[in-house]
Amino acid sequence: ETVEWEAASYDMGGHDTYMHKEISEQPDAVDRVLRGRIDDRFSTVHLGGLNLDAREARGIRRVKILGCGTSYHAGLIGAGLIESLARIPADSEPASEFRYRNPVVDPDTLYIAVSQSGETYDVLAAVQELKRKGARVLGVVNVVGSAIARETDGGVYVHAGPEVCVVSTKCFTNTVVAFALLALHLGRIRDLSVADGKRIIEGLRRLPAQISEILESEDEIKKLADEYADAKSMMFIGRVRGYPVALEASLKLKEISYIHAEAYPASELKHGPLALIEPALPTVAIVPDDELLEKNRAALEEIKARSGRILAVAHQEQEKADHTILVPKNEDELDPILMGIPLQLLAYHTALALGRDIDKPRNLAKSVTVE
Ligand code: G6P
Repeated sequence: ETVEWEAASYDMGGHDTYMHKEISEQPDAVDRVLRGRIDDRFSTVHLGGLNLDAREARGIRRVKILGCGTSYHAGLIGAGLIESLARIPADSEPASEFRYRNPVVDPDTLYIAVSQSGETYDVLAAVQELKRKGARVLGVVNVVGSAIARETDGGVYVHAGPEVCVVSTKCFTNTVVAFALLALHLGRIRDLSVADGKRIIEGLRRLPAQISEILESEDEIKKLADEYADAKSMMFIGRVRGYPVALEASLKLKEISYIHAEAYPASELKHGPLALIEPALPTVAIVPDDELLEKNRAALEEIKARSGRILAVAHQEQEKADHTILVPKNEDELDPILMGIPLQLLAYHTALALGRDIDKPRNLAKSVTVE
């Protein structure tokens, strides 16, 4: 049983697919999630629906984020943002797994349910169970008034607008930005300095123009997709902030192109997947200019030494890579938001080259409202 959008009532606006339309809408969508929320005077953000006062925010000892599919991946980046900006231990877990391990529900943990549709059964059931056990649960949801939005104690709407394509693009990006806002808000209530608050706010404001800049490289990305579309399998690697970007890019590729893909932390290559590296298995590497740049470069060298083809997404040309897709630099914490965007286009053009039904991939549904 699935919930289908009334696709006919939602104009494609000159695009050939909803996915392409939704990828293109990201600069405006990000603008919307930021709008009216930034407070320059106190270098923080206001989130009207959060329902969490400063005393409660100071008492949080852990954050546990729950979602499925792409929303789980957005939660992984969100957890990283909360750890780095608010210095609260945070992690993200598939809601479907969490529910079945009789989890310890702790009163000092803030639980956050993430869902584009707000209707995913596994997430809703996790929320209901948490509430039964007395936990406080917030939602990071796109669809206003949806079941998860109604069941949660408060939360942040991501304001991405309707998303029709089965696979999520603009909603993923906006969800991560919503997490950046939440992390900044919690951080400023706790120990994040005014200067850091300002730095992140300025970074957030740069995002829409930087996303537009990335979208301008579509022709170049299309050429790469045509070149890599014959791969039987692809490896995606990244570290720390880059790893969830790799996970999401690998999911996107398999969902719409049906090419097998897997994501690994670059640091784990030597513990197994290096055995797979050969010319027929291309690697997409997330290589931001941050404290892990040299470590990431060492991983590229190991792949090159085994004649693996490398496509890097980076802030500067990577010598060991066969191709580098350059993305504009933002603040380290916000870089993952930008690094995922060219890989949406890579998945899109790979699927297009293979003649796939991009908006409705086989065996998948937009909203999974049964277990
Ligand atoms: C389905 C979709 C995925 C989506 C997941 C979670 O599996 O095919 O694209 O990420 O559900 O959906 P949600 O609406 O909860 O974010």
